[in-house]
Amino acid sequence: MKPLCHLKDLEATGALGLTVDLGEGPVGIFVVRQGGTVRAYHNRCPHRGTPLEWQDHQFLDDEGALIVCATHGALFRIEDGLCVAGPCKRQSLTPVPVRVEGQAVLLP
Ligand code: FES
Repeated sequence: MKPLCHLKDLEATGALGLTVDLGEGPVGIFVVRQGGTVRAYHNRCPHRGTPLEWQDHQFLDDEGALIVCATHGALFRIEDGLCVAGPCKRQSLTPVPVRVEGQAVLLP
């Protein structure tokens, strides 16, 4: 188990961008929280493969309800990464499995 962050790291913006090694060299991911749901995804839009955030750690829309791609505005559900609007509708972000233990978000 590798610690990724603490839940309090997600308080300010609801998400945290990180670079981790998942076994094939450094890759950009982000951890996102909505209530009791904590998920992580590769920071790569299925439309053009660009990073999603519009500023550091800013991955969510104004309401904090959906993940938004800064390039063309695709919207993704936090719970499963499914694109619900935009040019890659019905495609999904690539999940990264994470576990929450206490206040820590861990990479198994
Ligand atoms: S690159 Fe994300 S919507 Fe186009």
